[in-house]
Amino acid sequence: MSGPRIAVYPGSFDPITRGHEDLIRRAFTFADRVVVAVAVNAAKQPLFTLAERVALIQQAVATPHVDVRSFEGLLAEFARSVGASVIVRGLRAVSDFEYEFQMALMNRNLAPGIETVFLVPAFDLTYLSSSLVREVARFGGDVSQLVHPAVQQALHQKFGR
Ligand code: PNS
Repeated sequence: MSGPRIAVYPGSFDPITRGHEDLIRRAFTFADRVVVAVAVNAAKQPLFTLAERVALIQQAVATPHVDVRSFEGLLAEFARSVGASVIVRGLRAVSDFEYEFQMALMNRNLAPGIETVFLVPAFDLTYLSSSLVREVARFGGDVSQLVHPAVQQALHQKFGR
């Protein structure tokens, strides 16, 4: 295989956390370019709009060779459309596994040339999730260690603090 290795890192990113940032950095051990793919995800009711989620990622990850894109529909189609050879997902706990395994198999079925690679986050970030961050911020807890300052400010604005 020739040309740059492109990895797609998909998710809802509602909002991006230090855990996501860590995974993007780790993806560069095998990718030349990382496309952070923000799902429209009609099934979920996100706290942040699609445009807000994209803008927050761009502020939190101002790194060369990272593109932030939104996508609607199948991840496998999107990954193919950007020329990706790899889909990156994070695995934090055993509870993540079943859903992730199903998704990886289905994505391989839909796009046989694209491999899913699971990355383990830094030890001190394994407990972290966007939903926990939203909940802590909603009740006025300190999220400064968990998210980029731009995300912290956006959370404060959302919750009127
Ligand atoms: O951060 P999340 O919410 O765990 O991300 C889930 C996401 C967006 C990666 C997943 O729901 C997805 O890929 N959605 C796109 C639609 C799709 O391709 N569904 C079939 C996957 S097998």
